[in-house]
Amino acid sequence: MKIIETKDYADMSRKAANIIAAQIITKPECVLGLATGSSPIGTYDNLVAMYENGDLDFSEITTVNLDEYKGLTRDNDQSYYYFMHEHLFDRVNIDSERTNVPNGMEADAEKECKRYEEFIKSLGGVDLQLLGLGHNGHIGFNEPAPVFEKETHCVNLTESTIEANKRFFASADDVPRQAYTMGIGTIMRAKKILLVASGEDKADIVAKAFFGEVTPDVPASILQMHPDVTVVADAAALSKIPR
Ligand code: F6R
Repeated sequence: MKIIETKDYADMSRKAANIIAAQIITKPECVLGLATGSSPIGTYDNLVAMYENGDLDFSEITTVNLDEYKGLTRDNDQSYYYFMHEHLFDRVNIDSERTNVPNGMEADAEKECKRYEEFIKSLGGVDLQLLGLGHNGHIGFNEPAPVFEKETHCVNLTESTIEANKRFFASADDVPRQAYTMGIGTIMRAKKILLVASGEDKADIVAKAFFGEVTPDVPASILQMHPDVTVVADAAALSKIPR
């Protein structure tokens, strides 16, 4: 695992965007795994700026998002479909036919999870997977659990995740209770992983996930076993790692 320390969120975002840009430049037809949340927004802004400067071409890439709330329509401004269009897809020359987010409106969870998992396999896997890190160590919506869930599946969100996400909804009652997410196996099969983390509130979980025991209680800890992980995190998020 490579850890790149940055000054702050802006610096983290620039460096993460540069790593993704290098992937797109070296393999224009690559498959990118994408994340939502506050951590990657600056990364997406930097990628958009590179596109606007004529330095980056998204026309051949395919994207697969990590997760989506179950039951939110695409035009709901809290859906991850909406988020991705707002922060990246509608701002660059990506082929929208090649952008993929789990279908939160498919009521049959088993059918949608199987479809998404098989679809990712049919692409030949993910070249570079971008991740954020939840305060409880979740990646995607893989919450702390007795075992690592391998494949794309439907999860019941934990109280701490509902609590963390309620800032985006009118109230905690409006936060969906379930989501579709790539599994830990799906994520671990990505050829390269790039995780971004920023802020003091992530310091405890960064130390625990990357320097603690590998356990499904801290889902991100499994990344210690992946051969090509880069963590780009600011000084505040890295303030509790052992030196
Ligand atoms: C989002 C996702 C989540 C977030 C995590 C961190 O697609 O999969 O695991 O990455 O909740 O969220 P932020 O970046 O808002 O702290």
